[in-house]
Amino acid sequence: MKSIIVCKSVSHGNTRKVAETIGEVLDARVVDPADIEPEELSEYRLVGFGSGVRHMNYYPELREFVQGLPKDQRAKAFVFNTSGFPQPPFIPYRDKFVRLVEDRGFDVVDTFTCFGYDTYLPLRVVGGVRKGHPNSADLDTARAFARQLRNRVEAAD
Ligand SMILES: Cc1cc2nc3c(=O)[nH]c(=O)nc-3n(C[C@H](O)[C@H](O)[C@H](O)COP(=O)(O)O)c2cc1C
Repeated sequence: MKSIIVCKSVSHGNTRKVAETIGEVLDARVVDPADIEPEELSEYRLVGFGSGVRHMNYYPELREFVQGLPKDQRAKAFVFNTSGFPQPPFIPYRDKFVRLVEDRGFDVVDTFTCFGYDTYLPLRVVGGVRKGHPNSADLDTARAFARQLRNRVEAAD
């Protein structure tokens, strides 16, 4: 199953670590949105989109990349992020991004999230939060997510 992961990781490479871990299981290349032409995505059966969270939203580079894709995407997709805190119910930024991906035609089959070391300015005075994340347990969970995802998508083929 030909797979690729488009990932924007800015602060500490937290999301990139998760992307590489999932990518190993799926045998998927990990690329920054700036390093892939939108047309290339049509070659893939499964596409992952990953981002860190800034001010209650996915990074603009990834959102703009998705918004710029033609609306006739046929691949299955998954969405993941790392963040300092869980998604608050009053600003469901991940759900919003999922809808953006679905709006381009993708069939979003699953999502994944874990904590990432967070040094947002007000938190820096206490040395940041979630230090060490994603840790090895987070990456094990990401691996398990990827295995289950691969099995599910392969079974649907
Ligand atoms: C300026 C800034 C704003 C952030 N805003 C949020 C936020 O709104 N919610 C949250 O849970 N985490 C927030 N974070 C934490 C990041 O989402 C977290 O560190 C993430 O793992 C970064 O991923 P990256 O290293 O892949 O870029 C923020 C971090 C920074 C530096």
